[in-house]
Amino acid sequence: MNSIIKDINLAQAGNYKIDWVSKHMPVLNALAEEMEQEQTFAGKKIVATIHLEAKTAYLALVLKRAGAEVSVTGSNPLSTQDDVCAALVERGVKVFATYDCTAEEYDYYLLCALDAEPDILIDDGGDLVNLLHSKKRQLLANIIGVTEETTTGVHRHRALESSGQLCVPIVAVNDSYCKYLFDNRYGTGQSTWDGIMRTTNLSIAGKNVVVAGYGWCGKGVAMRAKGLGANVTITEIDPIKAIEAVFDGFRVMTMLEAAKIGDIFVTVTGNIDIIRAEHFAVMKSGAILANAGHFDVEISKTDLNTITIEKKIARNNIEQYLLIDNRIIYLLAEGRLVNLAAGDGHPAEVMDLSFAMQCVAARYLLQNAGKLENRVYVLPRELDLMVARLKLATDGIIIDNLTEKQNEYMLRA
Ligand code: NAI
Repeated sequence: MNSIIKDINLAQAGNYKIDWVSKHMPVLNALAEEMEQEQTFAGKKIVATIHLEAKTAYLALVLKRAGAEVSVTGSNPLSTQDDVCAALVERGVKVFATYDCTAEEYDYYLLCALDAEPDILIDDGGDLVNLLHSKKRQLLANIIGVTEETTTGVHRHRALESSGQLCVPIVAVNDSYCKYLFDNRYGTGQSTWDGIMRTTNLSIAGKNVVVAGYGWCGKGVAMRAKGLGANVTITEIDPIKAIEAVFDGFRVMTMLEAAKIGDIFVTVTGNIDIIRAEHFAVMKSGAILANAGHFDVEISKTDLNTITIEKKIARNNIEQYLLIDNRIIYLLAEGRLVNLAAGDGHPAEVMDLSFAMQCVAARYLLQNAGKLENRVYVLPRELDLMVARLKLATDGIIIDNLTEKQNEYMLRA
């Protein structure tokens, strides 16, 4: 099947973006050279659903260099960049994605990508695996395995595993140290504020920022908000994470209390209805709402629409909701993950590590083809360490090694 993209003539702009990030992803480049020489994925078909911006495009090209036939589709309608898609098609990757596609188009593109009859899937959020276990079960027999990029996808796959219905081995790339410690924390931390700042062109300093969820992403979002001069409040449901936030120097309270004081809200829980009717009811007029969690379900648009008398575009990627009591609420990027829907996603140096882990995971699946059970796996620590060592080496950082005496001391009974 031929690619479906907006306009092939946008390719030049996409090429600039991809070439730029490729110069800032040395770990991936080192792996690319190795995998090109060994032609790791020769004769294999890889289908990826992934936020289609420059770094992910570069990952697709690296996999292609390593011999794979690659098809890609977006993992969120607003995170697809049409120029990047055009550049990918020009460079021989099959693409099924357009910016701001409808929900129906989005589902159709996933199915189109799966028509390639893949050996390996790279999933981001769990939609491909969901299709594989519902409408595309005939493809299961050919699948060597799946790699999963994000927390929400890992939750969905584990739920499938627990119910005894998982029919493929899955590597939870998200759960590797070299992924979540850096991507979820520092990547989401920086790119969420990049998305909010470039969209609103407002100051963060002095604002009351409310971050819902103090997981890996929430920690990064809160840390960077503090660095930008905001007064940061955390909401949580996990008592341990809540204490952690307190010791990190943040105020912790319920969303109902936080809703009254917040100027900017960021949800990043992976859960549903974090901000809902009772919270909208007490918000200050002018409050700005953004989501950085995987799906656009964290801020209840249904509840917001119920109390809205007029909705209009205030600025690109900002919707203004005029409420029945004349207050105004601003919603960024339709409540979709703001760092990708209204920005370029994480910094290249961070995604360098994440996508190195993706390559390592795909290679691991291939090397262990037929040996893995239909379970959700975390990559062996040695592979995490290998990527960390590569990163240090490409940054020119040398660390200490244990002396023999230290090693023996650590191993003593
Ligand atoms: P995590 O599991 O480390 O943290 C989520 C936190 O939210 C937990 O501490 C949990 O207790 C808390 N939480 C759950 N329900 C809550 C509620 N009702 N109120 C307040 N807190 C609540 O997950 P992580 O890695 O931080 O990911 C969060 C979300 O962000 C996921 O959907 C993930 O897929 C997504 N993500 C987004 C990225 C981006 O680029 N925007 C990058 C990586 C992950």
